[in-house]
Amino acid sequence: MNTWSREERYQSLDDVTPVTLEALKEQVASSAYRQTYHIQPETGLLNHPSGLTFYQGTYYVSHQWFPLGAVHGLKYWFNYTSKDLVHFEPQGPLIQPDSEYDSHGAFSGSAFQYNGELYYMYTGNHRDKEWKRNPSQMLAKMDSKGSINKFPKPVISGAPTGYTDQLRDPKVFQKDNSYYAILGAQNIDYRGRLLLYRTEDIVNWQFLGEVKTQLDHFGSLWECPDYFDLDGHDVLLFCSQRTGPDGERGRKSYQSGYVIGQFDIEQLSFNHGEFNELDHGYDFYAPQTFVDESGNRVLIGWMGMPATTYPTDDEGWAHCLTLPRILNIEEGQLKQRPIPQLKKLRRNKETALGYANKFERQLMPYDGTQYELIIDILDNEATELYFELRTSKDESTLISYNTHTQHLSLDRSESGALPKPVEVTNRTTRLVNPLTQLHIFVDTSSIEIFCNDGERVLSSRIFPSKASNGIKASTESGQVYLKFTKYELSSDAQQEG
Ligand code: FRU
Repeated sequence: MNTWSREERYQSLDDVTPVTLEALKEQVASSAYRQTYHIQPETGLLNHPSGLTFYQGTYYVSHQWFPLGAVHGLKYWFNYTSKDLVHFEPQGPLIQPDSEYDSHGAFSGSAFQYNGELYYMYTGNHRDKEWKRNPSQMLAKMDSKGSINKFPKPVISGAPTGYTDQLRDPKVFQKDNSYYAILGAQNIDYRGRLLLYRTEDIVNWQFLGEVKTQLDHFGSLWECPDYFDLDGHDVLLFCSQRTGPDGERGRKSYQSGYVIGQFDIEQLSFNHGEFNELDHGYDFYAPQTFVDESGNRVLIGWMGMPATTYPTDDEGWAHCLTLPRILNIEEGQLKQRPIPQLKKLRRNKETALGYANKFERQLMPYDGTQYELIIDILDNEATELYFELRTSKDESTLISYNTHTQHLSLDRSESGALPKPVEVTNRTTRLVNPLTQLHIFVDTSSIEIFCNDGERVLSSRIFPSKASNGIKASTESGQVYLKFTKYELSSDAQQEG
């Protein structure tokens, strides 16, 4: 693996020749792991989706981007537009690290509308000669041609007393005729915190204080916050670094989760239930939400993890975004369902009824590397169910389900090339209800598994060889009857209405 010096990581697009960039593009394009219907970088590293919005009939989806290689270097925003959240048009860099306040990275932020116009609030990082970071919260406005004009000065400079320089990712929201921004922060005792600011005119921001939660000792830094009301509840999303082992969550370092409760914004206090992970797969972090044209709350996440080396790093690119999901709260539970427009990707339909048991490891009558698969569990007398995808003689991505404990696990240890380090060998979650359905999206190098109509989601990158394309079902003991519905997916599929 290449090691990158600080100088190399802080090169901008202007520091490299078009020939160098073209060579990198060609190298990336020849990767065997390129996705076919997920947003992925043309070169370099993608992370945190930023500035998601629906504005005047168009969706805008940007992400954090270091163009020159698969490392966290000088960050840009790369922007896409879309009419349907399924087909995306790359628009190139949106916010560039080209001012004194964001000279060391245009970090994440969010989009909002003010007087009918589209604005972005984001974090600019500047480092001095001693490499000390100064965070600024910046504003930018989109003009009628889609270009970005930055405001000349930050609207929030530095961090308030009692907090470190790790202040970032403003998520702007409107409540009771005011605009608020919630930011990820760290206090001087190295505890993760969320800070709230308010403005009446978008330029003058008043620091209101820290959002009081019941998670005082939970991680050393919180980032990528999001707040919204959903089906009569207040929901707070955030990511926590170095959270420590905790039951079935299993992840020590980076957790992306939510709490549901009531936010008393005057008192700054958020009364909430348990912190839950949003996604139980291996690769999910830094999501952001927005409201779509029908009023749904839609979430897109980063299908990647910090501090992890991926098999594509040496090819000069890393990561992709998850598929968009609609969030709802039903009977107190968060549901996440793939957006229905994804049906536009379907090319053909195959269905089969089948059964599996201990002795007959059923090879399903179809295979593939880019597909949507719905497995309905019709009648289940088995103790443990196994579904293997992207399988071959040598490789297999294994989903297992224990009927008694209702634990569902994903094991990618034999799925092909592996991200490193391996922090957890399998990812497990306990379902609320017995398993009745798996709704799975497989792309060249990823799998997203929706269980029981959105009760749980597991998203992971997998790096199998192209020949590993089988689908199998079996049990530990007892028999299970299954219905399989499978669609080949392609972003070139005929678009129906
Ligand atoms: C999430 C994050 C954000 C930050 C961005 C920088 O992984 O650390 O907090 O804005 O990435 O690229």
